[in-house]
Amino acid sequence: MYYFSHLPSLVFLLPFFLYIHHVSLSSPLPDAFFKSIPSSLRQNVSDYYFELVKPLPSDRLDPSCSLLLLQQDFGNTIGSPPVSAPYSPPSDCPGPWTYVVLEFRASCQGEQYDRIAGLWLDGVEILRTSTAEPTDSGIFWQFRKDVTRYSSLLLQSNLTLTVMLENVVNDVFTGVYHVNVSMLYYAENTGVAERKLNRKVEFLKDTTNVNRINKAGKLGFADEFAVAVVQNFVERLGFQSEDKLGLISKETVYRSNRGDISEVVYEKPADLIIPICEDGDEDGFWFRIQSGLDVHSKGIQIPRNTRRAVLEIYVSFHGNDEFWYSNPPDSYLKLNNLTSGRGNGAFRQVFVTIDGVFVGSEVPFPVIFTGGINPLFWEPVVAIGAFDLPSYDLDLTPFLGLLSDGNIHYIGLGVTDSISFWLVDANLHLWLDSCSSAVQAKSVLYQTPALSIERESKFKQLDGSFEIEAKRKTEFAGWVNSTAGNFTTRVSQEFKFKNSIKFKRNGTYKETKQNIKVKTEVRVESDTGDLITRAIIKKKYPLNIITSTLPGSDNDTYLTTTNLSHALYEKSTRGDFSSSVSNTQVSGGWMVVKDHSVLSGTANTHQRLNYKDEFTCYSRAVAASNGTLLEDNSTSACASSSSS
Ligand SMILES: *[C@@H]1O[C@H](CO)[C@@H](O)[C@H](O)[C@H]1NC(C)=O
Ligand SMILES: *[C@@H]1O[C@H](CO)[C@@H](O)[C@H](O)[C@H]1NC(C)=O
Ligand SMILES: *[C@@H]1O[C@H](CO)[C@@H](O)[C@H](O)[C@H]1NC(C)=O
Ligand SMILES: *[C@@H]1O[C@H](CO)[C@@H](O)[C@H](O)[C@H]1NC(C)=O
Ligand SMILES: *[C@@H]1O[C@H](CO)[C@@H](O)[C@H](O)[C@H]1NC(C)=O
Ligand SMILES: *[C@@H]1O[C@H](CO)[C@@H](O)[C@H](O)[C@H]1NC(C)=O
Ligand SMILES: *[C@@H]1O[C@H](CO)[C@@H](O)[C@H](O)[C@H]1NC(C)=O
Ligand SMILES: *[C@@H]1O[C@H](CO)[C@@H](O)[C@H](O)[C@H]1NC(C)=O
Ligand SMILES: *[C@@H]1O[C@H](CO)[C@@H](O)[C@H](O)[C@H]1NC(C)=O
Ligand SMILES: *[C@@H]1O[C@H](CO)[C@@H](O)[C@H](O)[C@H]1NC(C)=O
Ligand SMILES: *[C@@H]1O[C@H](CO)[C@@H](O)[C@H](O)[C@H]1NC(C)=O
Repeated sequence: MYYFSHLPSLVFLLPFFLYIHHVSLSSPLPDAFFKSIPSSLRQNVSDYYFELVKPLPSDRLDPSCSLLLLQQDFGNTIGSPPVSAPYSPPSDCPGPWTYVVLEFRASCQGEQYDRIAGLWLDGVEILRTSTAEPTDSGIFWQFRKDVTRYSSLLLQSNLTLTVMLENVVNDVFTGVYHVNVSMLYYAENTGVAERKLNRKVEFLKDTTNVNRINKAGKLGFADEFAVAVVQNFVERLGFQSEDKLGLISKETVYRSNRGDISEVVYEKPADLIIPICEDGDEDGFWFRIQSGLDVHSKGIQIPRNTRRAVLEIYVSFHGNDEFWYSNPPDSYLKLNNLTSGRGNGAFRQVFVTIDGVFVGSEVPFPVIFTGGINPLFWEPVVAIGAFDLPSYDLDLTPFLGLLSDGNIHYIGLGVTDSISFWLVDANLHLWLDSCSSAVQAKSVLYQTPALSIERESKFKQLDGSFEIEAKRKTEFAGWVNSTAGNFTTRVSQEFKFKNSIKFKRNGTYKETKQNIKVKTEVRVESDTGDLITRAIIKKKYPLNIITSTLPGSDNDTYLTTTNLSHALYEKSTRGDFSSSVSNTQVSGGWMVVKDHSVLSGTANTHQRLNYKDEFTCYSRAVAASNGTLLEDNSTSACASSSSS
């Protein structure tokens, strides 16, 4: 991916300046490319691109209403301020809604790099996305993202939707991105409401449920909250199997209600969302992080009645850190006289501070954009997370003792060891105690051992190996006494990071292996020390890339052969509700490249997604070759796909 906004005039005048350091054949550092294969040489290429994800629960429903918020052509937008459009909820279904879904549609034709884009509502980021690279004959794509968690914001009128997508259009790069952004609202229609009411009556007949509601009541949650508990479970049942409505047995009802209130606490949208970001009128709202020392912060004042706080981090990596997981140390570049800036080793983590004090970190999932490594791998199925980049939640409730004191506090964001550049911002989701004007809160545990990191580096000229192992376990706790009760929240996070980079055959063969494992646990305890609820989330992101580069038959071209596999695994238990997702992609192929332009090549990509929770299963496997989707199998049957 190319992203020029810091040096627009320089880039404009000297487009070839940027190419110089990539021509070296002796070091196959991964890079960003664009496709330059005439359509006459390509047969049956798919024009519909997609990211393989689990369908949204709302997909089987008809939206009650929808709004086209923005229709925009992103041509030569480099250096221009972001575009904006007014936002107000739809007058024909003003909310509240069961679901709100953002729909992003785009099309493009010609030659173009992939580009990064951000969407914000009054500075709150609601989507980070990257574009697919077009072909001569044109492509289009669309995807949906559940944005229900931003409901408190979406209910407000007169907000500004801002979209930043910097693109370059000139004689070489001809692709203009045509983008439509819509919002789909799912209100409860009367039919559904009636069925739900019936189910609610049935639900309340079950004493287990009544006990549960009483428990919620005893814990001091407002009535409204108890009702939300009921509704949440009933909704889950309803959407689970609309067609089998009459057949829901008592057991099913019971099973669905073993889940603890944490699930609701987790899923219920926040009452207030405060953006932690730049003033976005000129360059977008994201903080541009240029180095490991570059910490950006914003002063905020939160309501004194905040009873829960979660920071959602959005992040993407660009420039010399686009492939941070495959960057060798600077000493390797320097001693071999390589001019590449892709160095500083391969460890990165986004970290968060409050008033300068570390409160958490996250090693991001290594999203590969559609021009990355070999662009032919990502057509028509893009890499995991390329259209809907994951965001990361950090529970800051243990720090409410500090944050909710009525004073201004500074939330900072930085990226350990980073080089230029990273685009990072965050949203602080806050749940308020509606029955009081202030809570009492105190931090009681702050445990962050220093990051343990070991680096081993051996090389002779262009061949060698570099290994990094890092880990840390942090634990924070704090109590919040609100009208709901006096609860202690304990948040522990343990991550393990391993990275190995090997260069062989005079540096023309490169092997990158990385694995990231993160385990997060959030426990909520009563003042007598009883466990009220807990969430455990385990994530694993393995990545393997083997690249071999040879001079091409033509002396200014080269041939790169690559094998790549990566995956995103996540298992979570929230209260009694467990789910697991496994999403793996395996690609192989070669390409002939001149500068950054892919002249020919072949690629195969296989992807499999398995999802399972207590009620539903979903599994989809696709195979693509040379830009054509060859196989696409999916099933919602649980039996056939229990492997994950
Ligand atoms: C292209 O698609 C047509 C029709 O599906 C098929 O007959 C033909 O063999 C395909 N060509 C290639 C090169 O895959
Ligand atoms: C955007 O919406 C307009 C108007 O409905 C439509 O003509 C156009 O095809 C849409 N573009 C994309 C990329 O979906
Ligand atoms: C939104 O803006 C319009 C026009 O400026 C104004 O009439 C309306 O009162 C505003 N609504 C809210 C909720 O601020
Ligand atoms: C790097 O450049 C220096 C100075 O030009 C030269 O002495 C050295 O041999 C070069 N090293 C390599 C590995 O080419
Ligand atoms: C805890 O908060 C509640 C509600 O705000 C309040 O009534 C109660 O006095 C507080 N408990 C203590 C020990 O301060
Ligand atoms: C590596 O480079 C050396 C010196 O240029 C050469 O003698 C040797 O054959 C090369 N090895 C390979 C595997 O290309
Ligand atoms: C809340 O509970 C914690 C832990 O049990 C206790 O230390 C603290 O004093 C309690 N706070 C209030 C206001 O009661
Ligand atoms: C390849 O290199 C040779 C010798 O350096 C040169 O004469 C020739 O023009 C080059 N060919 C191309 C296609 O660049
Ligand atoms: C890539 O995978 C293929 C098939 O598994 C294998 O034959 C080939 O040797 C691999 N290439 C590299 C560079 O490892
Ligand atoms: C993809 O292209 C390569 C090279 O042109 C060819 O060998 C291979 O059979 C093609 N794959 C398919 C599925 O057509
Ligand atoms: C799709 O299903 C067919 C028929 O069962 C099978 O042969 C094929 O391997 C499957 N494809 C994938 C990608 O799983």
